[in-house]
Amino acid sequence: MGWFLFLVLSFLLSHFPSQTSSLMPFCNHDDASALLSFKSSFTLNSSSDSSLGCESPYPKTESWENGTNCCLWEGVSCDAKSGHVIGIDLSSSCLQGEFHPNTTLFKLIHLKKLNLAFNDFSNSPMPNGFGDHVALTHLNLSHSAFSGVIPSKISLLSKLVSLDLSFLGMRIEAATLENVIVNATDIRELTLDFLNMSTIEPSSLSLLVNFSSSLVSLSLGDTGLQGKLANNILCLPNLQKLDLSVNLDLEGELPEFNRSTPLRYLDLSYTGFSGKLPNTINHLESLNFLGLESCDFEGPIPVFLFNLTQLKFLDLGGNNFSGEIPSSLSNLRHLTFINLFYNSFTGHIVQYFGNITQVYHLNLGWNNFSGEIPSSLSNLQHLTFINLSDNSFTGTIAKCFGNITQVNHLDLSGNNFRDEIIPSFIFNLQHLTYLDLSDNNFGGEIPDLFDKLSKLETLDLSRNQIHGRIPK
Ligand SMILES: *[C@@H]1O[C@H](CO)[C@@H](O)[C@H](O)[C@H]1NC(C)=O
Ligand SMILES: *[C@@H]1O[C@H](CO)[C@@H](O)[C@H](O)[C@H]1NC(C)=O
Ligand SMILES: *[C@@H]1O[C@H](CO)[C@@H](O)[C@H](O)[C@H]1NC(C)=O
Ligand SMILES: *[C@@H]1O[C@H](CO)[C@@H](O)[C@H](O)[C@H]1NC(C)=O
Ligand SMILES: *[C@@H]1O[C@H](CO)[C@@H](O)[C@H](O)[C@H]1NC(C)=O
Ligand SMILES: *[C@@H]1O[C@H](CO)[C@@H](O)[C@H](O)[C@H]1NC(C)=O
Ligand SMILES: *[C@@H]1O[C@H](CO)[C@@H](O)[C@H](O)[C@H]1NC(C)=O
Ligand SMILES: *[C@@H]1O[C@H](CO)[C@@H](O)[C@H](O)[C@H]1NC(C)=O
Ligand SMILES: *[C@@H]1O[C@H](CO)[C@@H](O)[C@H](O)[C@H]1NC(C)=O
Ligand SMILES: *[C@@H]1O[C@H](CO)[C@@H](O)[C@H](O)[C@H]1NC(C)=O
Ligand SMILES: *[C@@H]1O[C@H](CO)[C@@H](O)[C@H](O)[C@H]1NC(C)=O
Ligand SMILES: *[C@@H]1O[C@H](CO)[C@@H](O)[C@H](O)[C@H]1NC(C)=O
Repeated sequence: MGWFLFLVLSFLLSHFPSQTSSLMPFCNHDDASALLSFKSSFTLNSSSDSSLGCESPYPKTESWENGTNCCLWEGVSCDAKSGHVIGIDLSSSCLQGEFHPNTTLFKLIHLKKLNLAFNDFSNSPMPNGFGDHVALTHLNLSHSAFSGVIPSKISLLSKLVSLDLSFLGMRIEAATLENVIVNATDIRELTLDFLNMSTIEPSSLSLLVNFSSSLVSLSLGDTGLQGKLANNILCLPNLQKLDLSVNLDLEGELPEFNRSTPLRYLDLSYTGFSGKLPNTINHLESLNFLGLESCDFEGPIPVFLFNLTQLKFLDLGGNNFSGEIPSSLSNLRHLTFINLFYNSFTGHIVQYFGNITQVYHLNLGWNNFSGEIPSSLSNLQHLTFINLSDNSFTGTIAKCFGNITQVNHLDLSGNNFRDEIIPSFIFNLQHLTYLDLSDNNFGGEIPDLFDKLSKLETLDLSRNQIHGRIPK
């Protein structure tokens, strides 16, 4: 009789669910109480430091009430059949307080996805218990204020597809990282920015050679990695994003790219990467972000770079690249950001510059460019930042910038620009905050128009042929 009633009840529950819980199982009772005591171990504080980095922190656990179906609670997902909790997304949920070493969260042994990013666990040591959740496929503890050393048991999570331990202020031992790499053979996304890896000896750097070929995204920015990196990381067949930026003592070179690779995003800025850009860079057909700022690259940039028509962001600043910019630059129709600052580029700026019409940031400063600025530059109407300083540009600027009305930073200093007076178009650039025309051959008197530039904060007209009185 009891069984019969149970079956009838189960039938009714599964076939006539209440409106809000359609298709929703009723949650496992033990899981619900584990979640409730997890909830009660924290206070809610939307102004904690960890909440600062994220958009709109929101206390999801406020909807968690004893006696209601936990599968309907915000941030909780259940297995449709068993009613066990298999997913928790409490990112940016204003949790604040110490994370207990045996938190009841660890009772949820069916958990596959766990996101606790952007909460404030008050620099508690990261518990070993995370490593017992061998079913976990997704673990995200980014920006959650743990401290100490990443527990070595984390490498037991051999089913991981995505692991984010970025911005924790923690350290990871070489052996732990190596075991994660060896064990998590299905991993697609590994985000470890700002994790302290400085105790990994340069001679142990080869532990990074065995990354799974399934890896799609690898971020190791600002980790203190040091030594010479074998370039096979760049050869991973499915890699779309590689960020090794801000590792000043990390050296390496770009390999020959043999065939088309799916790399879209490559950031090696502020590293010791060096050498020339290989001609075979044209095989990176999907590349849209190339950040090589402040490395030790040199030599001419291969014309084939300009076959990468998907490029949006090109930052080559602070290297020793040389040679001329080929006219095939005009292939890069999607380019929005171009920084060539502080290199040894030479030659003229060709008319074709006017074809990269989406650019908002143009920095050609500190090179050996010469010649006149082509009038086609005035096609670049999205420009907000222009730096042509410290080159050998000549001629008049009057015809070049008149249509670029959005610009807020204009630095033409240290060239041989020659206009009889400061051209009047300048005074139509209502957004200007920074104007540097110093060290050129501008003449005439200072026009009494600067009051039109109400946002101007920095003005330098020194070392020109300007004379007369300074307007009020
Ligand atoms: C919230 O967190 C901030 C930063 O940690 C702290 O200064 C403040 O006292 C906290 N507020 C409460 C009510 O605990
Ligand atoms: C939930 O409610 C039940 C019955 O009212 C009670 O026995 C239990 O202690 C409560 N659980 C929590 C975590 O408050
Ligand atoms: C945590 O669990 C261990 C053993 O499993 C036990 O010795 C310890 O007292 C527990 N600590 C807390 C705070 O519950
Ligand atoms: C790899 O993961 C499996 C399963 O969790 C575990 O038994 C093994 O000890 C792990 N190996 C390492 C090196 O962590
Ligand atoms: C981790 O969670 C944060 C906040 O939800 C998110 O921005 C970040 O992309 C996540 N990391 C990964 C690797 O998915
Ligand atoms: C990284 O950890 C090492 C060893 O604990 C420490 O000496 C170093 O200061 C840490 N680096 C940073 C940037 O915190
Ligand atoms: C990389 O994997 C290969 C094959 O599994 C193994 O022989 C080699 O020792 C590993 N290298 C490192 C540095 O772990
Ligand atoms: C290209 O082939 C060479 C020689 O076979 C190899 O050493 C290199 O790693 C390959 N590069 C890529 C990006 O696959
Ligand atoms: C670069 O693109 C041009 C057409 O714009 C094409 O003729 C040339 O073969 C391409 N070169 C390489 C190396 O892909
Ligand atoms: C930059 O490269 C040029 C050759 O193109 C070389 O003469 C010069 O010494 C290099 N500068 C630095 C700082 O390495
Ligand atoms: C630049 O754009 C103009 C006008 O759209 C076009 O006629 C010209 O062929 C383009 N030049 C190059 C080199 O793409
Ligand atoms: C600049 O703007 C004027 C009027 O708005 C237009 O006639 C002219 O063709 C533009 N020049 C260029 C080079 O875009």
